[in-house]
Parts: sequence; C-alpha cells; structure tokens
Amino acid sequence: MRLGVNIDHVATVRQARRTFEPSPVLAALIAQQAGADQITLHLREDKRHIQDRDLELIKELVIVPVNLEMAPTTEMKEIALRVKPDRVTLVPERREEITTEGGLDVAGMREFLGDYIKDFKENGIEVSLFVDPDVRQVEASADVGADAVELHTGGYANLWNEHRFDEAEEELRRIEEAARLARDLGLKVYAGHGLTYQNVKGILRLRNLIEELNIGHSIVANSVIFGFERAVREMIAILKGG
Ligand code: PXP
Repeated sequence: MRLGVNIDHVATVRQARRTFEPSPVLAALIAQQAGADQITLHLREDKRHIQDRDLELIKELVIVPVNLEMAPTTEMKEIALRVKPDRVTLVPERREEITTEGGLDVAGMREFLGDYIKDFKENGIEVSLFVDPDVRQVEASADVGADAVELHTGGYANLWNEHRFDEAEEELRRIEEAARLARDLGLKVYAGHGLTYQNVKGILRLRNLIEELNIGHSIVANSVIFGFERAVREMIAILKGG
C-alpha cells in the first residue's frame, strides 16, 4: 500500500504563532526522502494551516506526486488550475469543524460535480472524491466521471480508538464493500482519515482493494516526539508489513 503523507498539521504548529517554523515545505521534502509515495495537503478556505505559498513551493520542489485536498469552490479551482497538483481530492468543508467530518455528498450534487471536475480532467489532473464508505456515494462518484474515490476511514478509526472492536469490524466490512464496488466500477481506491500506527493494521487487511492511504495527524503528532523522518519511516514499515 502506498503512503501519502499529509503535512497540514506541521503548518498548524507554525500558524499557532504566525511564524516561519516549522516549515511544511521542509516536512514534505523529509517525508519524500523517508520514502513517502505522495505529499498530501489541504488548502482550506479559511487558510487555517496550509497557505497558498506552501502549496506553490511544495509543487515546485517535491518530485513525488502532490495531492491537493480542497473544497469544490470557484476560488479553489482557480488555485488548483494555476498550481497544477497531480491530483485534487474534493472534500466537504465547514468553517467551524475541527477536521473534515464526513464524506462529500456526491449523490446529492451529481450535476454540479459532473460539471466541476471537467476542467481538472482537461488539464491532466486526476480527480478523487472523498466519500463515506457508502455504495450510493461510490456509484455516484463513478457516474460523475471521477477517476478515484478516497474512502473515509474516520468512522472505523474512532470506533477502534474507543475499543469498540466489533463495531469497528462492521465498519471495516462497509469499507471493504465500498472498495470492491469502486474497483468494479473502474475507480481507483484510496482511503484515509483518523488512521494511526495502531488502528491502521485493520485497514491493511484490505490491501488487495485499497492502493493508497493518506495519513496526517498521527504522523505529525508522533514526529513531535520522535522526529519527522522516523515517524514517516515507521508508518511506511507498517504499511509494507514490516
Ligand atoms: N484524507 C482526507 C481526504 C482528509 O481530509 C484528511 C484530513 O485532512 C486526511 C486524509 C488525513 O487525515 P488525518 O490527519 O486524520 O490522518
């Protein structure tokens, strides 16, 4: 399974003081050096962590693919078409949320999304939709012409963290069903949100269906204690079954 390292929360620490350190650009380069397959970052509308300049520099300096998470708005589309990341992942966004709470309601905005994603495809930018592990949303994602879905693992992760293992297992089965359907519909399948060094092990059972995980908070949290390079390397070792 490939690892996309989400470096948002390096920028969160910097923005806590509106200063210049730690640099998410440096973190992206270290993650790449440590073996990350992709750099993922979320440019939120409120710019609470990643800034436009971070995105520009990362796209310029990093050689592994760059995956830009963004809300499907006009402003974000303009930025993305200018910077040209390798992939955009469309996510729902609410200003008051602490982090992305649910998946995108693709089924409820088919017409809008079908139109919205055309410009990316014409510019050679892959389009992934962040959705709940729900067959309706997966079907709608294929309908609107997305290249991929990223399945929301937050529900599974929360249940696992609360040691509600039977319910976590249920959620894992929903993720498996959604991943299988996505594959059958010709979509690439990624997953992420809330994954940690511990709970990620359940997801690894689906490695024949899910080709990539995007993990941020847990890696950055551990990097404060153990260093960024080690935090990335250890997650990679788990993903590779080491
Ligand atoms: N994938 C998507 C679509 C996300 O929005 C996020 C959070 O920005 C992540 C993955 C990473 O989640 P976490 O920081 O909980 O690992």
